[in-house]
Amino acid sequence: MLLSSCEDRAAEQSTSSITPASFGGDLKRAKEITEIGCGSCHTIPGTTGANGLVGPPLDQMGSRVFVAGILRNTLDNMTLWLRNPQAVVPGNVMPNMGLQEQEARDITAYLYPLR
Ligand code: HEC
Repeated sequence: MLLSSCEDRAAEQSTSSITPASFGGDLKRAKEITEIGCGSCHTIPGTTGANGLVGPPLDQMGSRVFVAGILRNTLDNMTLWLRNPQAVVPGNVMPNMGLQEQEARDITAYLYPLR
């Protein structure tokens, strides 16, 4: 039962087709930030040195049903998480990175299409 409801939601999710252009993200900027700020904790494809194992791998971030196991995986929710992970899951290991709204959107545009 549980498994099938997860699959249903995943199927719903895969119908959205966001492009960086339609979401307004700067992929170059996203890469610059993730190289410096995220790679020690996450594995991110296409990002130099991003092979950390502290947090989950982000290589299929767009296919996940939830962000951090709690927020439905939408563009806005991913941006929300990136701006303030400590408000979403207090005490989790990912620190608030001090990202501006636009920076969080840039990174969302980079991660969301990863399937
Ligand atoms: C100190 C380690 C650390 C740093 C630095 C860090 N994260 Fe995380 N991140 C985590 C952990 C741990 C989680 C899992 C949190 C949870 O599920 O409660 C996480 C979760 C996430 C998630 C949700 C993953 C999922 O599978 O649901 C995303 C997206 C994410 N991080 C992106 C980033 C980005 C982008 C950066 C850089 C701006 C970053 N993180 C920096 C540790 C880190």
